[in-house]
Amino acid sequence: MSAEKFYITTPIYYVNDKPHIGHAYTTIAADILARYHRLLGDATFFLTGTDEHGQKVQKAAEAHGVTPQQQCDDTVVRFQELWRELEISNDKFIRTTEENHKEVVQEIMQELYDRDLIYRDEYKGFYCVPCERFFTAKDLDDQCCCPECGRETQEIKESNYFFRMSRYQQWLIEYIENHPDFIQPAFRANETLGFLKKPLGDLCVSRPKSRLSWGIELPFDRDYVCYVWFDALINYISGVGYRRNDEMFKKWWPASCHLIGKDILTTHTVYWPTMLKAMGLALPQTIMAHGWWLVGRTKMSKSFGNVVNPLDLIRKYGLDAFRYFLMAEMTLGQDASFTEEAFVARYNSDLANDLGNLVSRVIKMTLRCGSGVIPPPGRLTESELELNAAVDRAVAEMEQALKTLRINQGLEQVMNAVRAGNRYLEQTAPWTLAKNGETERLNTVLYYAAETLRKISILLDPVMPDKMTALRRALGLKNPEASRLDSLIRDEKVLSGLQMHDLDALFLRVKPEAPEATPAPSEPPGEGLISIDEFFTAQLKTAKVLAAEKVAGTDKLLKLQIQVGAEKRQLVAGVAQFYTPEAMIGKNIVIVANLKPAKIRGLASQGMLLAAKDGKNLKLLTIDGDIAAGSQVG
Ligand code: ME8
Ligand code: MG
Repeated sequence: MSAEKFYITTPIYYVNDKPHIGHAYTTIAADILARYHRLLGDATFFLTGTDEHGQKVQKAAEAHGVTPQQQCDDTVVRFQELWRELEISNDKFIRTTEENHKEVVQEIMQELYDRDLIYRDEYKGFYCVPCERFFTAKDLDDQCCCPECGRETQEIKESNYFFRMSRYQQWLIEYIENHPDFIQPAFRANETLGFLKKPLGDLCVSRPKSRLSWGIELPFDRDYVCYVWFDALINYISGVGYRRNDEMFKKWWPASCHLIGKDILTTHTVYWPTMLKAMGLALPQTIMAHGWWLVGRTKMSKSFGNVVNPLDLIRKYGLDAFRYFLMAEMTLGQDASFTEEAFVARYNSDLANDLGNLVSRVIKMTLRCGSGVIPPPGRLTESELELNAAVDRAVAEMEQALKTLRINQGLEQVMNAVRAGNRYLEQTAPWTLAKNGETERLNTVLYYAAETLRKISILLDPVMPDKMTALRRALGLKNPEASRLDSLIRDEKVLSGLQMHDLDALFLRVKPEAPEATPAPSEPPGEGLISIDEFFTAQLKTAKVLAAEKVAGTDKLLKLQIQVGAEKRQLVAGVAQFYTPEAMIGKNIVIVANLKPAKIRGLASQGMLLAAKDGKNLKLLTIDGDIAAGSQVG
C-alpha cells in the first residue's frame, strides 16, 4: 500500500458540560484510525477541539454564574485532561474562541457577504436551544416542538443574515449520488437525500446580539454574531491553515474523514458541503456518522442525565481495555448499548482469556525451555503455515477494515489470529517437545509463537498502545515502537536471539459482580424480577401540572403542560374519564421522564404519568407534601 495523506477530525464538543463515554468514543475511534494510518506510513493529521460559542454555552455560563469565556476556560480543561488520560494522539486541539479561528470565520463571512452569498432578511422561525437549530413552521409538529429532539421550541421574529444555501440544493443531491463514499454508512446518505427532497431553505447565519451575545461578531454588522454551527464547522479548515498557511492547507485539505455521531448528520452533510462549495473548496472525502451509545434504550446524553463517566471504567479496568471495548463492541454506524456486564464479558473472553493466555503461555514456555532467548526457527510444517496464514489474513482484513472505517471487523480477524495462536500451541505441544528433547522442532514452535505475538502486538497497537508496547518489550525488542503494517506480511526474523522478559498478566481476569447486584440482562435472577440498574433505566421525576385541556375528538385524553425542573413539557395522558382538566391543574404528579417523545393524536407527548388502575378506577400517583418539580423519584 503506497503512503498517502490522512486527515481525520472529530466533532468539536460543546463546553457546556464535561465529556462522557459518547464523546470519548468518537475521539478514541478517531485516535485509533489516526494511529493505524501512521502505521501504514501515511502522513497523518488528527484534529479535535471544542465548540465554545452559542446559546448552550451562554446558558451554562449563566447557570454557573460565570462569564461565557470563564465557562469555556473551565470546561475545556476537562476535555483536554480526559484526552490526555485516554492517550489521544491529536496533532492539534482547536478552540473556537481562538483569535485565529475567529478571524478566519470573519473573513469567510465578509467574502460571502461581498459576493452576495450572504444577505439580510426579515425572518420568522422557531429555535431549539438544545439543538442550536432554527426551524420554520412547516418543519415543526402541531405543538411547535423540535423535529429533531421533540423538545419545545421558541418562536422568534427578527432581521437576520442568510447564507444562500438553497442555491446548492440540486448540486448537492447530484454530488451525493455521484460519490457513494461521501456519506457513510450508505443508509445515512439516503437519510440526507431524503432530507433534500424537501425544498432547501437559505440558512440563517446570524444572531442579534440583543438575544445572544456570545459569538463571533459579524464583520459587516456589529449588532450580530455568527450562528454557532457556521462558526463551528469552519474549524475543520481553520485548524489546518486555511487563509493563513497555504502550504499546510494544501497538504491536508480536503479532510479524509470527518467522524461524527448521527445526531449531527444534517449540519455536516448539508450545511457544511454547501458552505465549502460557496467558498470554492473541495469537499471532505468521507463523513462517517456512527451510532449512539445507549443506556437501556435511551441515548446516553448530558440532557438525559444518564451518562457513564469514562474515568470510572478506566480506573477499574485499565485504559487499554476500555479503548478495546469501545472499538470492538460498536459496529460503526449502529447503536450499541452500554452495560458494565457486557464490558466485563468481553474483557474476560477476548483480553483475559484469548489474548492474555496466548501471551503468558508463549512467554512462560520460552523462559522455561532454556534461558529465554528466542531461538532461530527450523523447518516450517503445515502448522506454522496455517498459523502464519491466520496472521496474514488479520493483516489484510485490518487494512481493508481501515479503508471502510470498520475497525471492529478488523479486530475480529485479529482475535481469530489470537485464537489460531492458542490452537497452534495446543497442536504442537511444546512441553512435550521439550520433554522429548526435540530441540529443532521446539525452536520452530517457540519462534513462530513469539513472532505471532509480535505481529499481533503491532496489529493491536493503535487500540491498546500501552499494553502492546509492554508486550514488545517483553519479547526483547530494544525499540518497542510498532513497525509498519506492511512489514507484517514479510517473514522478517527479527526475533531470533532476543532475550525475552517475564511479564505480569496483561489482563487479569475480572470476576463478574455478584449476580444479585448486577445480573446480566440475559440471565434474570428469577422470573419477572429486574435488577436495580434495570429499574433505574426509567427515570421517574416529579412534575407540576401547569395547564390541562381536553383533546378534541376523544373523551379519554387530556393534554397537560407540566413543569419538570427548569423545563416545561407537554404530555398527553389517558385520564380524561377520571379527572377534569381543572382537577389536574396544580397537582404534583410522577412521570417517566426519559420516555422517547411520542405523538398521540398528532400531539407531542414527552413522558408518561404514573397512575394506579383497578378496572373501573384510576388514581394518579401524587406527591405527599412539598418537593420541587423535577425531583428524582426512586
Ligand atoms: O454537537 N453516543 O457537540 P456535542 C455516541 N458542538 N456518541 C455520542 C453520544 C452518544 N450517546 N453523545 C455524544 C456538538 N456523542 C457540536 C459539534 S462539530 C463542527 C460541532 C458524540 O458536545 C458524537 O460524536 O453535542 C456526537 O456527534 C458528539 O458527541 C456531539 O457532541
Ligand atoms: Mg449534542
